[in-house]
Amino acid sequence: MSIPLLDLNRQYESIKDEVQQAIDEVLESQYFIMGDQVKEFEQAVGRYCEVNHAYGCASGSDALLLALMAMDIQPGDYVLTSPFTFFATAGAISRLGAIPVFLDIEKDSYNLDPKQVQQFLEGEHPLYAKLNPEPEQIKAVIPVHLYGQMVDMKPLQELAKAHGLMVIEDAAQAIGAAYNNQKAGSVGDFGCFSFFPSKNLGAFGDAGLITVKDKAHAEKADILRLHGAKPKYHHSMVGINSRLDTIQAAVLLVKLKYLDDWSQRRREIAHTYNRMFEEAGVTADVSTLGEHGSLEEADKIITPVETTGSESEGGRHIYHQYTIRTGQRDKVHDALKEHEIGHSVYYPVPLHEQECFADLGYKPGDCPVANVAAKEVVSLPIFPELTQSEIERVVEVVSKAVKS
Ligand SMILES: Cc1ncc(COP(=O)(O)O)c(C=O)c1O
Repeated sequence: MSIPLLDLNRQYESIKDEVQQAIDEVLESQYFIMGDQVKEFEQAVGRYCEVNHAYGCASGSDALLLALMAMDIQPGDYVLTSPFTFFATAGAISRLGAIPVFLDIEKDSYNLDPKQVQQFLEGEHPLYAKLNPEPEQIKAVIPVHLYGQMVDMKPLQELAKAHGLMVIEDAAQAIGAAYNNQKAGSVGDFGCFSFFPSKNLGAFGDAGLITVKDKAHAEKADILRLHGAKPKYHHSMVGINSRLDTIQAAVLLVKLKYLDDWSQRRREIAHTYNRMFEEAGVTADVSTLGEHGSLEEADKIITPVETTGSESEGGRHIYHQYTIRTGQRDKVHDALKEHEIGHSVYYPVPLHEQECFADLGYKPGDCPVANVAAKEVVSLPIFPELTQSEIERVVEVVSKAVKS
């Protein structure tokens, strides 16, 4: 029995008729750019994420770029973020000539550590002396809600306020996640979403959306995605071409209705994995991790920790990924491969070590927790249609591998 990391066919089977009808309506209208479904979807996501302003765009990467452009990021500005994320987070910063400042992550959530941000903003972080920024050049922070769980936003928001920084939530992996009863994308000044097909809410191609708190920034983001023109052919700014296709909006409108049920099912699967790994006797507690997060016990794994709390505490991890930590990743990889079980490492090379950022002068030891995580994490199959027998098989193969 082979088990995929993600099987979009199973989801498609369950909504095929509805989606095809929605696409047909767009085809009949021949209104492919900024059709009615785009506005309808923007309003629906705005309600879902509890924000006043939401604009579709071509991808999550563009949503990040638009947020930085809307806040007028300039070459030489500094933007703080996590090194343990998909490349697009830092790519958007660099494309504008700004400088990404990679600060280390927490060993339990794998998210940007607010204590590192505090140290940096107070000039006490070793990287501060190295980068030597003028304080007024530090313009923004991009917390990334990795794997579907929100960053510890309260201290981060306080720090941003105290130091005059904008907060751009990279919520590409976290639509519907919550922290303190606040939805991802509704806490910071901007929220950036990706509807890449493999995301919890996935389009049939590239698609994204930006949420904006303040009205003036919202108007700017809206215009920037349309070449900076308002009215048409009158350009007050140099924008980009980044629209959400009407066909994608139509597909996403159908899928949005099911999103909460799908995320709930992902949560149940994650909790089942947790319980079964514990019953198999292979789980260790995060308190046993080394200083930088390394898992010393060879025959154990660390299952995901819900650092934003349970739903009754206002938290909600939506398990875009179910990611474990193991000190024996090669062995686990070999066993999963042998048994044809899909798995992946998000992410094997932290951004501060990427070749394209070599001129920024980071050393691997600048973000040691991210470095250890990159060597020890592995994501296992999770999607709403995953069956109980598939979950059992994954647990059996992983547990046997770490115990052997
Ligand atoms: C954390 C993160 N940020 C940004 C992106 C970029 O989104 P997209 O692929 O839609 O450009 C992704 C998704 O791939 C992501 O996972």
